Amino acid sequence: MRTLAPFGRRMARVASVEGIGEYALLWADDGDGPADPRPGQFYMLAAEERWGAGTDERPWLPRAFSYCRAENGRLGFILEDVGPGTHRLAQLAVGDGLWLTGPLGVGFTPPEGRPLLVGGGIGVAPILCWSDELGPDARVLLGFRSTGYAEAASLFRAEVALATDDGSAGRRAYVTELLREELDADPAATVYACGPPPMLEAVRALCGERGVSAQLAMESGMACGFGACFGCVVPTRTGYVRLCVDGPVVDAADLETALVPGSGH
Ligand SMILES: Cc1cc2nc3c(=O)[nH]c(=O)nc-3n(C[C@H](O)[C@H](O)[C@H](O)COP(=O)(O)OP(=O)(O)OC[C@H]3O[C@@H](n4cnc5c(N)ncnc54)[C@H](O)[C@@H]3O)c2cc1C
Ligand code: FES
Repeated sequence: MRTLAPFGRRMARVASVEGIGEYALLWADDGDGPADPRPGQFYMLAAEERWGAGTDERPWLPRAFSYCRAENGRLGFILEDVGPGTHRLAQLAVGDGLWLTGPLGVGFTPPEGRPLLVGGGIGVAPILCWSDELGPDARVLLGFRSTGYAEAASLFRAEVALATDDGSAGRRAYVTELLREELDADPAATVYACGPPPMLEAVRALCGERGVSAQLAMESGMACGFGACFGCVVPTRTGYVRLCVDGPVVDAADLETALVPGSGH
């Protein structure tokens, strides 16, 4: 499901930035943008100021982010500080300018069976707005490295089942173990997942061997975000697709693997 982006980038203003454990939650006023992005769609973001372009430095490319909530003309993003772009975005202050393009790509499509939502780490972002939309019928399973990251679970309005790698919050398990148990109980579920490639690959394999329908919100390096550069291609059973226009949500049955070439996994 896709809401089309207005042409060109537009300027939004930062409404708030707060820490959620190890992550940052950024809200931006986007009154000029579509009010109805679809869960799973993403935006290309760049700070108005200090976005590269220091002395002898070129501006950085915008970075891709799934929106986590869209409410009253405001867009929410959860950021993990993994490099210069996310570091700068997490430092923004109220009123600062944020260039954004979007919503881009194709989001999740409605479930056939009971929806089972699986989020890993920063991959909880699109799972949050999809959980809001589907309501209490959707079971939400979240996995994080440790308790500092797991604070993002507090953003969910729905009840969630929580796992951490080290057992410092929720169960000591990978979230895919929780998924296996849920599928044992309800093999007719429809699975939606976003998280690191090894987690998505485990979800794909688990659902594939059981014939369970699964939609995966994937990541790859994105330079343009709208289909022009082919930097984001991933292989599927029927050939390469551009994740920014044909995804980022991909039907798991179309993939040989959810491990993305060049991602280090
Ligand atoms: C559709 C989509 C949605 C995303 N949603 C979110 C989100 O909601 N929140 C969030 O924090 N991040 C999200 N990301 C990831 C984010 O775009 C990257 O982490 C971003 O490039 C980081 O920029 P940087 O300048 O901070 O770090 P960079 O210098 O770009 O990279 C830092 C490190 O991350 C690695 N890396 C960067 N991008 C990728 C990638 N796409 N795949 C694998 N490794 C990568 C680099 O190799 C490097 O080790 C999303 C990406 C995509 C494609
Ligand atoms: S990011 Fe440029 S084609 Fe997808």
